[in-house]
Amino acid sequence: MAEAVIPNAVRERMDAWMRQGLKHFIDGKFVDSANGETFSVPNPATGQELTRCALGGKEEIDLAATAAARAFKTWGRMAPAERGKLLRRWAQLMIEHKDELNYLECMDVGRPIREGIAGYVERMAHNITFFADLAEKYYDEAFVLPGYTFYTNRQPVGVAGLITPWNMPQMLSTWKIGPALAAGNTVILKPAELTPVGCTRLAELAREAGIPDGVFNVVHGFGPDSAGAYLTMHPDVKLISFTGETTTGKVIMAAGAPTLKRVSFELGGKGNNIIFADADLEKALDVTMRAAFYNQGEVCLAGSRIFVEQPLYDQFLEALLARVKALRPGDPLDMNTTLGPVIAQEHFDRVMGFIDRAKAQGVQCLTGGGRAEGLPAPFDGGYFIAPTVFAAPDPSVEIVQEEVFGPVVSVTPFTDDEWVLDIINAGRYGLSSVVQGKDISRLHRMAQRLQSGNVWINSWFVRDLRVPFGGMKESGIGREGGMHSLDFYTELQTIGIPTA
Ligand code: NAI
Ligand code: MG
Repeated sequence: MAEAVIPNAVRERMDAWMRQGLKHFIDGKFVDSANGETFSVPNPATGQELTRCALGGKEEIDLAATAAARAFKTWGRMAPAERGKLLRRWAQLMIEHKDELNYLECMDVGRPIREGIAGYVERMAHNITFFADLAEKYYDEAFVLPGYTFYTNRQPVGVAGLITPWNMPQMLSTWKIGPALAAGNTVILKPAELTPVGCTRLAELAREAGIPDGVFNVVHGFGPDSAGAYLTMHPDVKLISFTGETTTGKVIMAAGAPTLKRVSFELGGKGNNIIFADADLEKALDVTMRAAFYNQGEVCLAGSRIFVEQPLYDQFLEALLARVKALRPGDPLDMNTTLGPVIAQEHFDRVMGFIDRAKAQGVQCLTGGGRAEGLPAPFDGGYFIAPTVFAAPDPSVEIVQEEVFGPVVSVTPFTDDEWVLDIINAGRYGLSSVVQGKDISRLHRMAQRLQSGNVWINSWFVRDLRVPFGGMKESGIGREGGMHSLDFYTELQTIGIPTA
């Protein structure tokens, strides 16, 4: 039996709510698609249908864009403090409905609840309040010359199209919604089709908070030839902030080109975890386990390729295998579960494809390598993959080069720092790296030469909302975080006037 972390009353209420099906949120109202179409949303832990969701297309995007453009005329001209009051009320409601939102995220994504309850909703609410506060503190510049003065004025851009992935739907959506709205834009959010649940509940809370009609809209649907693609093409949508696959980013960039949309992209990655021989073994394992298996490895920052300096390699590998074998796949709502299912059948097949091809290439699979067996019903129908470790002395193989986005890691021994740097920097991704050890100068030397937007020394995924976040090369365009987010969500204007 699952330990009752989420009160039964909350579960029952949210189950009943999900049974009603999910609608779009357009101009302050919850609506079905004009053509009545819906799609099925799976529960990744059981493989059964969780709910059905309205399937939006051109018509829904047009309606949302019209509403958002109208609402922008008022919202964009409100004082930041006035917008802030409403945004803080919304964030407060998120905190008050913390159990609900954690439960829905757990159902949507399958992430173990023990990871969810560790501050996830608080962080979502902070994504809103932090940027509401920052927008109030934003200031402009003046350039005073004899007889002439210039000053800058930051205008909101207009209607913002936000497109988010399925791995942390509520977190990654609020991370965009907060700065977009605080800066005075209005928003159309297109959540990932695999995880539309949590963001729909967030829309209800937005309405309850009194966010004016049309300021925040949610249109559900798929990417190509669906709500996602129409959002990226709509002439009234002035910017696109997208988190998702690199290949999708390229398609969106092309779709936005005719209307020259500004874009901010957080794309795929192949995270590195470099462990020097002088590293503290236990601490290095703690960091490695979190970096590799948090959210069952479905994290763009996942440290899924591990490089271990000789002579530590054998000892590290043995200790790593012991920890990996101790992971417990199972009911995500059970506090003892430490590994959830991957998101869907299609993704399960994709991850298994990587595993099977690695085996076929002769890469040695040390543990895992297949479906997690022996789970009780209904979890035997879920998309659980046994946590998998490959020994990959040759780093040119696919499993070391491509993003797997699942509970799968490779471990590669090394003796030469330059060799590791060359392997990593030759790759097309540049999102995140971990460097572990004790020699301070060497750690920094390595960090500073890595082509990674984010490097964590002796740690992983520590975030502060002021800190710039983003990827180099094919891992992204632009940075989010603090003023970098507000820069993206505003247009910088210069005004000059004679004073003589
Ligand atoms: P995806 O690219 O398949 O989908 C992301 C979103 O884009 C979904 O809402 C989808 O409906 C939409 N979409 C797909 N095609 C579209 C199109 N042609 N036009 C407009 N919208 C479209 O990504 P997925 O599978 O949801 O997420 C996994 C990927 O996201 C991984 O590759 C991962 O690396 C990346 N990711 C990156 C993060 C970062 O911060 N860099 C964070 C989390 C995930
Ligand atoms: Mg995808």
